[in-house]
Amino acid sequence: MTAIYFVTGTDTDAGKTLTVASLIEGAKKRGRSALGYKVLASGVEFLREGMLNRDVLSIMKHSSYPLKYAECVAYQFDEAIAPHLAARNTGVVIDTAEFDRGLDHLLEMEPDYIFIEGAGGWMLPLSDSTFLSDWVSARGFPVILTVGVRLGCLSHAVMTRMCVEQMGTPMAGYVINQIIPGMNRFRECADWLRNRFADIPLLGEIPFLESRYTCDLSGYLNTDLLSSKS
Ligand SMILES: Nc1ncnc2c1ncn2[C@@H]1O[C@H](COP(=O)(O)OP(=O)(O)O)[C@@H](O)[C@H]1O
Ligand SMILES: [Mg+2]
Repeated sequence: MTAIYFVTGTDTDAGKTLTVASLIEGAKKRGRSALGYKVLASGVEFLREGMLNRDVLSIMKHSSYPLKYAECVAYQFDEAIAPHLAARNTGVVIDTAEFDRGLDHLLEMEPDYIFIEGAGGWMLPLSDSTFLSDWVSARGFPVILTVGVRLGCLSHAVMTRMCVEQMGTPMAGYVINQIIPGMNRFRECADWLRNRFADIPLLGEIPFLESRYTCDLSGYLNTDLLSSKS
């Protein structure tokens, strides 16, 4: 049976995309198959193959099976702005049934894991009254929180976990991601978090990577530690 996890972050640019890639590579290293899925992609680059989003390309590159671009993403917007605003600008109504349809299709491939990458942080709006987290908690997907370590991240991490759990959604684990090279007091921040989150699995720490596009990501996150309770 496929285990589905939702990856959220303390903020945009916390390292969710890197986390999904590292989880997939970590799973593959353990002989398991894994796919990624992006429900909302905002911002494209003009490449030879078309107008494409970097997160979706990363998912395609790392996933165990060769996936077509459109199989990895439910909604894509050209502008790198909040998805509900991009949707409004383009006359699109974001329908979570579309998220489910794409996911059902990936489930037909029967991978061991599917890692869904969120957008922004946990309370990402889908409209004036709904949030992406409403869908996640309704579906009951366990949540992986990527903490991008920078000033302010401890508050964001604690608040995110609090909110996830208050919505009745299980925490599957968290990731400490060093997004700032040589950050002053990085270790103390990471240790504070380890102590505060001692009751949920730390899936691993990702150091600052000089060349994240070329380096081997398989050794940073341990998918065997993922909490399976949901
Ligand atoms: N550990 C890291 N080492 C080096 N660069 C990182 C690291 N984590 C994130 N980055 C860079 O920070 C940016 C945001 O990371 P990304 O994984 O795309 O975040 P998110 O998906 O949460 O928006 C990217 O340019 C990425 O290459
Ligand atoms: Mg991303």
